Amino acid sequence: MDLSGRVAIVTGAGKGLGWAIAERLGRDGANLVIAEIDGASAQEKAGAIRQMKREALSVQMDVSKWADVENMVRQVMSKFQRIDILVNNAGILGPYFPVMEYPEEIWDQVIAVHLKGAFLCCKAVLPIMKAQGSGKVVNMASVAGKEGNANMAPYAAAKAGIIGLTKTLGKEMAAYNVQVNCVSPALIETDMAREMTPEQRALLISKIPMGRLGQPEEVAAVVKFLVSDEASFVTGQCYDISGGRSVY
Ligand SMILES: NC(=O)c1ccc[n+]([C@@H]2O[C@H](COP(=O)([O-])OP(=O)(O)OC[C@H]3O[C@@H](n4cnc5c(N)ncnc54)[C@H](O)[C@@H]3O)[C@@H](O)[C@H]2O)c1
Repeated sequence: MDLSGRVAIVTGAGKGLGWAIAERLGRDGANLVIAEIDGASAQEKAGAIRQMKREALSVQMDVSKWADVENMVRQVMSKFQRIDILVNNAGILGPYFPVMEYPEEIWDQVIAVHLKGAFLCCKAVLPIMKAQGSGKVVNMASVAGKEGNANMAPYAAAKAGIIGLTKTLGKEMAAYNVQVNCVSPALIETDMAREMTPEQRALLISKIPMGRLGQPEEVAAVVKFLVSDEASFVTGQCYDISGGRSVY
């Protein structure tokens, strides 16, 4: 499952799951684009990829802004002339409110980063993969998108939307040798999980039959499989990484 010479964009790769995925793909041979709203961490992580003797590009960008996405893709094509892998990972948790009290502008922001961000990056990258006649996309969903989590409505709705987007793209891109899948983790040990209240964290862990949080590397391993040549007949699917929580 060697990825030597492949060019992979990972959004939100400045830390957490995005970084674990970028590091794993780099370790397995890929050159990396760290597309991240936090410019300093993007640069730092690109430096870490170069230390692994891979090529790296850091781009400070906001996935929810079309101009930023277009500019990022332009920079990638100018440096690498191809895009083999896109991982739409960037995301924000948003505050906890019941729907009855959810502030409209924060609803819009959470949906924009997760769902519109994945849409915009796909819109910009898929024509390039179609022209190449190959490509792999992995979108970051969540068990929240399948089961819902109280007080996290825009997050859960955005993640459910990402599953629908993935299934649609699996069909739209099937004839072009471009496979589009998503992964659906339960609670994983990152800053996002650390931002939660102790009560929310305990509740989410209690729902996981394995009785523990997942580790970022366990998500990266599944993403690595989905972007490899081994996953050649897999598209439009949602892979659960939930310690047994998800049942469908
Ligand atoms: N941690 C979990 O338990 C968990 C579970 C399921 C799904 N997820 C999903 O995994 C993804 C990564 O989560 P994480 O836990 O690593 O979170 P994190 O907060 O540790 O990292 C998120 C990264 O995305 C970046 N980012 C945020 N908004 C951005 C934007 N508009 N444009 C570009 N970059 C942006 C941040 O700067 C940060 O580097 C998210 O989509 C999240 O919803 C996380």
